Amino acid sequence: MLTIKNVKNIKGETVTKKILSDQDEMIDATGLTMLPAVIDPHVHFRTPGQEDKENWESGARAAIAGGVTRVFDMPNNIPACVTETLLQEKKTLINKQLSNTGIPLRYGLFFGADAGHLEEISKVKNKIVGIKVFMGSSTGSLLIDNDEVFEKVCKIAAENNLIVAAHAEDEHILQELSKQNPESKDPKTHSKNRDRKAAIVALEKCIAASVRFGTKFYILHLSIKEEVALVRQAKRKGLPIYAETTPHHLFLSEDDYEKWGTRVQMNPPLRTKEDQKVLWDAVNEGIIDTIGTDHAPHLLSEKDKPFGHAPSGIPGIETSLPLLLNARSQGKLSLEKIVELTRINTESIFKIKPNDDIVLVDLNKEKIVEDNLLKTKCRWSPFSDQNLKGWPVYTVLKGKACNLDA
Ligand code: DOR
Ligand code: ZN
Repeated sequence: MLTIKNVKNIKGETVTKKILSDQDEMIDATGLTMLPAVIDPHVHFRTPGQEDKENWESGARAAIAGGVTRVFDMPNNIPACVTETLLQEKKTLINKQLSNTGIPLRYGLFFGADAGHLEEISKVKNKIVGIKVFMGSSTGSLLIDNDEVFEKVCKIAAENNLIVAAHAEDEHILQELSKQNPESKDPKTHSKNRDRKAAIVALEKCIAASVRFGTKFYILHLSIKEEVALVRQAKRKGLPIYAETTPHHLFLSEDDYEKWGTRVQMNPPLRTKEDQKVLWDAVNEGIIDTIGTDHAPHLLSEKDKPFGHAPSGIPGIETSLPLLLNARSQGKLSLEKIVELTRINTESIFKIKPNDDIVLVDLNKEKIVEDNLLKTKCRWSPFSDQNLKGWPVYTVLKGKACNLDA
């Protein structure tokens, strides 16, 4: 049994928490607050094919450091995860890497929708958390840029009771936009090349498909005010449309290209301060259901290439909870809201059985984010040098407590 004494619950009451465990352990948690451990529904742990950027050993350590005990991983691997065989091979590799670390991280996998492999979807329906559709091209080769194929995927998903996680940026618009500034070396161009128009059109297609087929959607990384308005409208109509935003869209904006250049290049791109404000309001209004980090590690040697050559994506799994706790210390959201966004809503949307995993946080602890303390293989963060107030101190996974300060 793991016994946690003198811990505060969300309401601020001091309690003793007991969790079933293989070993007997007691933690005196005076000064700490207990939250459900975080689920990160959107990571790219890069296995198979790009393990120089991350694997499930470094990924699992980064997860635990961030108070995360369950992740949902994306299929844009090399090769992309688009067949039952590839899914099985990916699971075998993951399980081996996790067993090397001794961290039994909980995970689910998204399956890649691919025009050439639609018949695979029904075969894997009980082995995945959902289907990932890239409506615009991003890292990797996965792409559904044909409306008919997109609708087929949405129909198959509805028939098989699967949720569609949509990267909603319309490829045709992205292609048009990128012709405008072909020679630009300015990282800010990224936000112009992936203008809001692309996101609006793609999201409208998702909503139309939901009306037509009854498809349940998880709209990834909301980044603009128009998406918030569309999701609000869809929810009011009772459509099964759920929405995620990322820490980077909440805490960074287009202004940050100045400091970070291509390091803060990601898809969808950084947006305006006005969009950021609308995202915050949507978080507090309950239009945005979850925070997914879109943890997309790339090495600095790649990220620091000139614009046009640098890959899109940033790491985020270790800094998400501290950023949210810091925002709470500034009065931007409540502890209850953090728990909804990082755990409860995800369990409910993806029908995950609840468990006793928790994270003990010190709401008053201040620490500076430092690259060399990060567990991700890529070892950098666009939040480095920020002093944040509120940090996880213990992560408890399956009854085993990991002291993050040790
Ligand atoms: O910025 C991004 N990076 N967006 C994506 O859609 C993919 C991700 C990656 O895998 O690098
Ligand atoms: Zn992603």
